[in-house]
Amino acid sequence: MRIDVLTLFPEMFQGPLETSIIGRAQAAGIVDIQLWNIRDFATDRHRQVDDYPFGGGAGMVMKPEPVFRAVRHVLGEDAAPVILMTPQGEVFSHQLAEKLAKEKRLLLICGHYEGLDERIREHLVTKQISIGDYVLTGGELPAMVVIDAVVRFLPGALGEATAVWTDSFAQGLLEYPQYTRPRGFEGMEVPEVLLSGDHQRIADWRRRESLRRTWQQRPDLIAKLDLDERDRELLAAIQQEQNKSDNRLD
Ligand code: ADE
Repeated sequence: MRIDVLTLFPEMFQGPLETSIIGRAQAAGIVDIQLWNIRDFATDRHRQVDDYPFGGGAGMVMKPEPVFRAVRHVLGEDAAPVILMTPQGEVFSHQLAEKLAKEKRLLLICGHYEGLDERIREHLVTKQISIGDYVLTGGELPAMVVIDAVVRFLPGALGEATAVWTDSFAQGLLEYPQYTRPRGFEGMEVPEVLLSGDHQRIADWRRRESLRRTWQQRPDLIAKLDLDERDRELLAAIQQEQNKSDNRLD
């Protein structure tokens, strides 16, 4: 996959894109990430990328020409989703990351200042993505979030190919608790079932704990699920256990 990023601050990307899994994926040729400084596409003497808003008001607005020139230069005759990072976009999710990972190519634009000229949004951008309902100082961190989440889905990026399918959210549930050695640590023991070697019991326990965790932390996700009979029974048992322990505490 090829990912091009248009930004006013390419240096912000160095650490995150060169380290760990994303760094290895680039070294292995699984993803090619190219950073472009929007300022390099400004044509005036001062290489100006922002200007005052028509109609007045506080703050500066990103000018259209450098962004249009940069996108045309980077894509040439190629077609690719042109994605603007903005708090006004579709809220990013596991599902959207998985969908974007199927594209051959992506182009991400990081907005800055108070905003950007609306003509960029109307005539250049094909998709807008927000990473959550809060406002950051620029689109750089959101672009890194999207790149990280997308690259995880590329074949070969993670050591174990199955890992993405057992992740939190992959099946609409949060992930079950994990333990490693030692079995006992300062009086805190690993649940006995995980040491039993009984694969069916372990799978059942993990499903129940996934449901429990999701019900406790993210009841909104449970409401969206299409649970089968077995899951509904497990959930009812979890809720009963919880009610009992709540009563004991009262
Ligand atoms: N730019 C500023 N805030 C943002 C957000 N929450 N998501 C995406 N881009 C942004």
